[in-house]
Amino acid sequence: MIVAIDGPAGSGKSTVARMVARRLKFRYIETGSMYRAVAWKANQLGLDPKNREETAKVAANLNIEFQPAEDGSQRVFVEGKELTRDLKNETVGRMAAVVAANPEVREILVSKQREMGKKHDVVMDGRDIGTVVFPDAQKKFYLDADPVERARRRYDEMKAANANLDFDQIVEQVRQRDHEDKTRAASPLKAADDAVWIDTTSLSIDDVVEKMVRVIESTPEEMKSKS
Ligand code: C5P
Repeated sequence: MIVAIDGPAGSGKSTVARMVARRLKFRYIETGSMYRAVAWKANQLGLDPKNREETAKVAANLNIEFQPAEDGSQRVFVEGKELTRDLKNETVGRMAAVVAANPEVREILVSKQREMGKKHDVVMDGRDIGTVVFPDAQKKFYLDADPVERARRRYDEMKAANANLDFDQIVEQVRQRDHEDKTRAASPLKAADDAVWIDTTSLSIDDVVEKMVRVIESTPEEMKSKS
């Protein structure tokens, strides 16, 4: 079974996806880390992330592996080396959005994601899971939240490590990333027509998880009668 979760940065996707996967005993796959791994490697090689041909070669040859951590989150290994933390930073995130606009990179990573979905029951999150990677996924969600609330979540996450963090700058970064992800030509971020849309702005993480598990455990007939 495939549970597809899409939505913009800071919508709470990865936190709730991890918790839902844990409840269902499914494998959790955070596809953003694959775009981040390609961006990280391109940067290591001194490549311009806009160079389509070279970044596609990086994507084709890069060995990216996942292992579930104790808490159900995803550990990422690139060419055998653990990079879970290194991939999380904002600079890598920004480069990942550039690399992700490259259709050839997308094709390579999407095919790897489909392979993973064949081997396990998965909860997979990203930007195009319900629309492109698994258009036939049994359960699809689109998580959204007000951009200022998403920036606040990001700010709270990062401020312990950086006392000089500027909130307005984070709001700007969130808006910028939304713009890039929603307006690119290749697989732009959008909700699948059959996705259950959840606005997480004023919901707790537990509320969102409960809502999602209820939808996942309901039959298609029950879903229809509720809509
Ligand atoms: O989710 P995360 O912030 O780690 O993703 C980093 C970037 O990778 C996103 O801003 C987006 O441009 C890209 N991405 C994508 N498709 C996915 C997952 C991530 O285009 N399925």
